Amino acid sequence: GNSPLIDGFQRRITYLRLSVTDRCDLRCQYCMPEKMQFLPRAEVLSLEELHKVALAFIARGVTKIRLTGGEPLVRRDMIDLVRALGRKVGDGLDELTLTTNGTRLDEFAEDLFEAGVRRVNVSLDTLDAERFAELSRRDRFSQVLNGIAAAKAAGLAVKINTVALKGVNEGEIADVIAWAHGEGHELTLIEVMPLGEVDGERVDHYLPLTQVRETLERRWTLRDDAHRSGGPARYVTVEETGGRLGLITPLTNNFCDSCNRVRVTTTGQLYACLGGREQVDLRAAVRSDDPDAALHAALTEAMTIKPHRHNFAIREKGEAPALARHMSVTGG
Ligand code: GTP
Ligand code: 5AD
Ligand code: SF4
Repeated sequence: GNSPLIDGFQRRITYLRLSVTDRCDLRCQYCMPEKMQFLPRAEVLSLEELHKVALAFIARGVTKIRLTGGEPLVRRDMIDLVRALGRKVGDGLDELTLTTNGTRLDEFAEDLFEAGVRRVNVSLDTLDAERFAELSRRDRFSQVLNGIAAAKAAGLAVKINTVALKGVNEGEIADVIAWAHGEGHELTLIEVMPLGEVDGERVDHYLPLTQVRETLERRWTLRDDAHRSGGPARYVTVEETGGRLGLITPLTNNFCDSCNRVRVTTTGQLYACLGGREQVDLRAAVRSDDPDAALHAALTEAMTIKPHRHNFAIREKGEAPALARHMSVTGG
């Protein structure tokens, strides 16, 4: 039968993060090196195959799908996949959404809404155009702001994702929050995770959110908020702005006990954890003679490889990252 997905620690898996490409039109310094080696195109699943994989998860009780990358909107025709999965919203899926860097949202916001998307998470680490260009190594700040505005105009709820970076956006975090809340957007702060080699040293820019919170509390009153979005964020409300602030703290406050997620890469490899080393090959399953049965068996197997928790302790200078795999491969 279509039994629910429950891992070895009794956690129910209801949230799939499906990467549609590992490629990106930005090169954020904490995410990837300038000369990033992307996966060979020949190994990538077709949109039809990604659709089949997603349907297999829905049949097993997944109610939330987030399309990720890399940058999902750089994959040609990916809106077709959004439309196909959009038909499952209200018929198995509670939420179909995506995480994007916003550079192409201007073009796609209305299509996304029409396809059934109601909310998008947009990465934005700074409101300073020059700092954006330096951090992302690309001069696309105005496109991102236009993209966010287009999303709002199209009726999409926008959550801004901001990675807290010492010596980079540290002094600007409160202003970014105030801006987001003023625009009616939630904002979530993220601790930088040691995933994959980058050109610099992540440890130089690691900023624990415990510290950010103390700084923010000198200016504002933060009230714990029981709101849950289905992801790892814990929320507070900023009394002065009336807006919601999320905190994603893989390093300072582990949230793995309540994990409800698995990830599939654009080549069809299932990782049961962002930090997981084992994988289950869904590409072989979806390309087999009996894809439905093979996917069903593969998802059952995946529940046995989900580790209890990740260990993303920040590395000392010169040490290899906790995990060789970049976040852009598993979509975060
Ligand atoms: P909501 O649906 O709004 O809750 O989104 P989300 O936080 O689940 O997704 P998003 O793609 O916006 O991710 C925000 C950050 O959380 C990214 O840096 C992800 O890598 C990180 N993240 C999501 N799930 C996990 C997880 O299970 N473990 C860790 N360590 N980080 C995660
Ligand atoms: N650590 C923390 N966050 C990261 N992101 C990308 N790489 C990392 C990393 N190493 C963020 C992006 C985006 C989200 C999906 O993940 O900025 O907001
Ligand atoms: Fe691209 Fe997101 Fe990585 Fe920036 S953080 S390079 S936008 S995948």
